[in-house]
Amino acid sequence: MIDSRIKAVLNFVEKNSRVADIGADHGYLSIELVKSGRASFVIASDKNSGPLDAAKKNISAAGLSDFIEVRLGDGLKVLREGEVETICIAGMGGALIVEILSDSPEILKSVQQLILQPMNATEKLLEWLKNNDRYIADIDLAEVGGIIYEIISAAKNPARVSAVMKKEKSPLLKKFTAQKISKLQKVLAEMSKSPAAVASEKFKKIQAEIESLKQK
Ligand SMILES: C[S@@+](CC[C@H](N)C(=O)[O-])C[C@H]1O[C@@H](n2cnc3c(N)ncnc32)[C@H](O)[C@@H]1O
Repeated sequence: MIDSRIKAVLNFVEKNSRVADIGADHGYLSIELVKSGRASFVIASDKNSGPLDAAKKNISAAGLSDFIEVRLGDGLKVLREGEVETICIAGMGGALIVEILSDSPEILKSVQQLILQPMNATEKLLEWLKNNDRYIADIDLAEVGGIIYEIISAAKNPARVSAVMKKEKSPLLKKFTAQKISKLQKVLAEMSKSPAAVASEKFKKIQAEIESLKQK
């Protein structure tokens, strides 16, 4: 089922790209990438055979087996250098996405665009991207079942960076900011139980972040 989270990932893919969908699971993103004409060819991979079998069935039922190659394996290790221009990794934790990207530096070098949708630890992922020669080209927001997700497009080329991020113009921004403040306030409330935690740098940092988010 294609929801607004998957649609937001899809919308960042440049037309006619060769794309890898890492952690493809059911294969819905891969299928929609080809159906929409965003991708001319997709490699749909997953570490686990259960999800990959489901993807295979869905791809075959959609009549797209000639355009989507299915591969079993860990992260980017299923790819060869230069095979794809774009890599999508959606629905995984931010730390796992960082691990997958860090594990295959040669493959990563050969890829122009990364489209990433972390389930958490977004800041950690953004920091890793900036420290590893990737420009944050754009960020969008998408809501599914009351949860707002961030979708990141990271490019090799600084010319790809949007003047104004989609996120900043999104009707979801206010709600997203309020949810973020509420989460951080809960962390502070928990930390407030320990005097050592209250005196820590982390406590001050979170306080400052809340204040800065309130200004938005
Ligand atoms: C929650 S699903 C997300 C599916 C889909 N990408 C989406 O966003 O709807 C995560 C998938 O990633 C796969 N996965 C987890 N670690 C992986 C890795 N290191 N390499 C490839 N696939 C992985 C899991 O087997 C699972 O099918």
